[in-house]
Amino acid sequence: MSKVDQSVVLAGVKMKNPVVVASGTFGFGREYGQFYNLNELGGICCKGLTLHRREGNPSPRIAETPMGILNSVGLQNPGVDAFIAEELPELRTHDLAIIANISGNTPEEYGIMCEKLSAAGVDMIEVNISCPNVKAGGLAYGTKPELAAEVTRMAKAHSTVPVMVKLSPNVTDITEIARAVADAGADALSLINTLRGMRIDVNTHRPILKMNTGGLSGPAVLPVAVRMVWEVANAVDLPILGMGGVAKGADAAQLMLAGASAVAVGTACFADPYAPVKVRDELAALAEMQGISKVSDFTGAVKPW
Ligand SMILES: Cc1cc2nc3c(=O)[nH]c(=O)nc-3n(C[C@H](O)[C@H](O)[C@H](O)COP(=O)(O)O)c2cc1C
Repeated sequence: MSKVDQSVVLAGVKMKNPVVVASGTFGFGREYGQFYNLNELGGICCKGLTLHRREGNPSPRIAETPMGILNSVGLQNPGVDAFIAEELPELRTHDLAIIANISGNTPEEYGIMCEKLSAAGVDMIEVNISCPNVKAGGLAYGTKPELAAEVTRMAKAHSTVPVMVKLSPNVTDITEIARAVADAGADALSLINTLRGMRIDVNTHRPILKMNTGGLSGPAVLPVAVRMVWEVANAVDLPILGMGGVAKGADAAQLMLAGASAVAVGTACFADPYAPVKVRDELAALAEMQGISKVSDFTGAVKPW
């Protein structure tokens, strides 16, 4: 058993360790719960929810890439009411932070979901702004400061639990969006979501994904995530949940040194369901080796040249 204090606090939510699983890569925990007790985790960012049930996009919707995957799953989910009725009670029997991840077509939909989820007793709401805004002609909320701020204000006005806004990396200057979201009242930020990419079959001349493009995740994106967490940590005074390509304890340490208070493990879970637990143990071992008594001391401790 490690002597290192692994506990962290993210926007007032206490977690026994800083390792969370990333939205869309861990379902609602049922399948992974067959491998180990979910109490091992600091928290779970649940599969992205929408107001109504969604079937998601047509297949193929996952394509492998060197050091990562492209996905165009398209928010397949049972809808917020089914989550509250059928998934949340089981999750609640565990001792971990439950973070509901939401996507809306309109700011009003975000507000309705925040109200339902706050009343149902999740610990935090993660607002995914990487989805298209129907009213703004399909432009993603996360790419325009004013749209990102509008959704944040709506989420805050309808939530009684902390609101964490998940930033898109598909922007020129992520600090501009981070500032807009912070000014609109967000309690925390999470980053990064997937980077838009594309693969083409050179024999058929067809894109591999049925949606033509998709989001890149996995080890390939880690350096982008570290850079963006560092930039955002320097730009705003909000706690950060860092993610993007974490597969080892040292990857998590990089995101924390850059400024993250906690980290999420996503794509790595597909290759190894135990990845989040290994990341937790490796991070504690690294702290112990370096004579650091609390993993939270990694946060923001980078020494830039
Ligand atoms: C298959 C898949 C589904 C995802 N679904 C969601 C989602 O529903 N909501 C969301 O905010 N992010 C979603 N993400 C993004 C991840 O939560 C995470 O931000 C991203 O994959 C980077 O972390 P990673 O490299 O550790 O996977 C999804 C990622 C993958 C690979």
